[in-house]
Amino acid sequence: MEFNFKLLHKNGLARRGVMQTPHGSIQTPVFMPVGTQGTVKGITPEQLHALNTQIILGNTYHLALRPGDDLVAELGGLHQFNGWDKPILTDSGGFQVFSLAEVRKINDDGARFRSHIDGKLLELTPERAVQIQENLGSDIAMVLDECPPADAPLEKMQDAVRRTILWAKRCRDAHVRKDQVLFAIVQGGINLGVREQCARHLVDLDFPGYALGGFSVGESPELMHAALPDCASFLPENKPRYLMGVGRPQDLLEGVAAGIDMFDCVMPTRNGRNGHAFTHEGQLKLKNAQHRRDPRPVMSDCDCYCCKNFSRAYLHHLFHANEMLGPTLLSIHNIRYYLALMEQAGLAIENGTFGEYRASCLARWSSGI
Ligand code: GUN
Ligand code: ZN
Repeated sequence: MEFNFKLLHKNGLARRGVMQTPHGSIQTPVFMPVGTQGTVKGITPEQLHALNTQIILGNTYHLALRPGDDLVAELGGLHQFNGWDKPILTDSGGFQVFSLAEVRKINDDGARFRSHIDGKLLELTPERAVQIQENLGSDIAMVLDECPPADAPLEKMQDAVRRTILWAKRCRDAHVRKDQVLFAIVQGGINLGVREQCARHLVDLDFPGYALGGFSVGESPELMHAALPDCASFLPENKPRYLMGVGRPQDLLEGVAAGIDMFDCVMPTRNGRNGHAFTHEGQLKLKNAQHRRDPRPVMSDCDCYCCKNFSRAYLHHLFHANEMLGPTLLSIHNIRYYLALMEQAGLAIENGTFGEYRASCLARWSSGI
């Protein structure tokens, strides 16, 4: 088996580990930049390597609609197709169907929906979600799940959990690729009883890794932070834990503190495209007039290509002139900011100083600018 996870250090609930995949090893805790369409928007694989990116995300839903998973398979799989030779995790498409497509019908068989691209009527079943991800050839595939909104009534939440468990079993039965592992997804919102029940069933099925889904779907960050330690405790100690679609830098540190190992979020790239830079003092809005004559880099102690070579004034200019280099440079900086945050967290866990590291980051962010 080419996949394994080893827990190396613990500091409180925070964990440092290492994961082996067919495309290389990953040090955790880790942030995974999002490459929905098979590309981290505006960034080349060479640039991702230079940032120390260990693993990127891809999306079943988008890639199955366009260019088609059969076409990607014909061209040698997603790694060959997009030129990224390190690990790739693919999300199953459930979440994207519910957030992007016009869902026509969802029942225990799967979801029928209209493509957000051409309006075509399509169906995503657990078996099809696995088949797409096997065609893409990601290192880590995710089961098809149902993610209800945070304010869904209890019965709706319980039914989504029942269906998520049913679909997890069907995904596992359909999954055959030996050079790919399939992670399960725990749902249940911020209801700890429902979460625990979902986790218990999925842990019985003995998946090689577990994700917490259904967070950052409309609940307050405080409620999410409060639920995370318990939700993580329902999962096996010796398997990787992935918090899906979260979040801001402070949410990542709360997740690490709760015992989460993996994160993904569109924020660094999306905010970067909009001219917003993450810094130790909070977010900088580079389009604002205050940066027009500012010769300083986005962040003086950042080692990224953007901060090493360009001023805030130049970025301000690029965004006002609508130049494509602006989004690229700020995405580079923001991804590096997220990756460095996780690298520092990992070192602090090794040194037994994660509590201090987290407190000092939170204090700096809350002081604002
Ligand atoms: N991405 C963010 N949240 C979720 C979730 O609950 N399920 C899936 N499949 N992907 C997600
Ligand atoms: Zn930088």
